[in-house]
Amino acid sequence: MLNFNFQNPTHIHFGEGQISVLAKEVPADARVLVVYGGGSIKSNGVFQQVSDALKNHTWFEFSGIEPNPTYDTLMKAQEIIQAEKIDYLIAVGGGSVVDGAKFIAAAAKYEGDDPWDIIVKQQPVKQALPIAAVLTLPATGSESNGNSVVTRNGSKIPFSSPLVRPLLAVLDPSVTLSLSERQISNGVVDAFVHIIEQYLTYNVNGKVQDRFSEGLLQTLIEEGPKALDPASKDDLEIRANIMWSATMALNGLIGAGVPQDWSTHMIGHELTGAFGVDHARSLSIVLPALMQVRREQKREKLLQYAERVWHINEGDDNTRIDKAIQCTIEFFKKMQVPTSLSDADISSKDIDLLVGRLEQHGMTALGEHNDISLEVSREILLKAL
Ligand code: NZQ
Ligand code: ZN
Repeated sequence: MLNFNFQNPTHIHFGEGQISVLAKEVPADARVLVVYGGGSIKSNGVFQQVSDALKNHTWFEFSGIEPNPTYDTLMKAQEIIQAEKIDYLIAVGGGSVVDGAKFIAAAAKYEGDDPWDIIVKQQPVKQALPIAAVLTLPATGSESNGNSVVTRNGSKIPFSSPLVRPLLAVLDPSVTLSLSERQISNGVVDAFVHIIEQYLTYNVNGKVQDRFSEGLLQTLIEEGPKALDPASKDDLEIRANIMWSATMALNGLIGAGVPQDWSTHMIGHELTGAFGVDHARSLSIVLPALMQVRREQKREKLLQYAERVWHINEGDDNTRIDKAIQCTIEFFKKMQVPTSLSDADISSKDIDLLVGRLEQHGMTALGEHNDISLEVSREILLKAL
């Protein structure tokens, strides 16, 4: 196992009705800005629950954070933060809103000239406003990690700081009942690929991390399709298991002490930036091709994945790996997400553009061995056709 340090201070409040804890968890004298997206929280009752919980607080609101939040939108929040002396943010929404709140929190306290430098120059965040998250879409793990992805002019760029990790997160599975099938699928697939990015590398004998990962993968494989099935889609137990899996997938636990890949994400970001493909759908397109192209480097873990996650025990090594990749594709198809570029109307003539964007964003040495060069990314994209 590799050396690691691990601390996850996010205080999780899990279960139905938990939004009410904001009343006592948010400091009474805070000047709060509630940030949210396009309005789903108004139609599903979540906004009302937040308003009720904050009835004795001083609070303001900022809305309009879009999926794949943009720098321009997020910077608009600075005006109200300055004018109303905001000192506490509550993000109410999916990963985009929580990620957006993280950038807003860091930008509000940034002392340099241009907050965009936090992202483009990866300037360290030295201070940030405190954040609470009320999660409405289980997917990204953003509610209990320090990561954020911000888009500007078609470039999707991540930044990370422990100072923007939410202090508390409310996870109420019942608020996910209003999600569309597409967003449920996206969430399950995003969480699945987060686990894969931290698991499917090379063996360092991280038995705890591996078995946690395998358990989470199996939970998503079992529960994901049930959340789309008309017979069980409103079952709160299913929603709860998906929600907790998605948080555990990217709260730092399973990735501590093991190598990590993240190339599926970095290549996927270019599909979103250039063609607007939903984040999770970019991953379901890239991952099967990446597994094929990297099968030698990932051989041992692919075989472990085949055996322990999919119970594939028959056939020689290559046959078992092929079957595991096929099972992954079939799972994605059950979750109704695309598994090839052509499924998303992207063709071979677009690959130069995507590789060019990877180069422009410095994504030239990806993967757990830093050996996914632009040429290897091209090979993966060609395989994904
Ligand atoms: O904006 P509203 O009206 O709220 O609608 C949202 C949005 O249109 C809707 N939605 C959310 N909760 C709902 C709901 N609709 C009905 N009922 C509910 N309960 O869903 C749509 C998508 O929301 P979004 O927040 O964009 O989805 P997701 O949670 O998948 O977040 C994706 C973003 O997270 C980033 C992605 O790059 C992308 O920008 N990621 C962040 C990560 C992190 N911070 O660690 C890791 C991930 O890999 C990912 O990159
Ligand atoms: Zn993701």
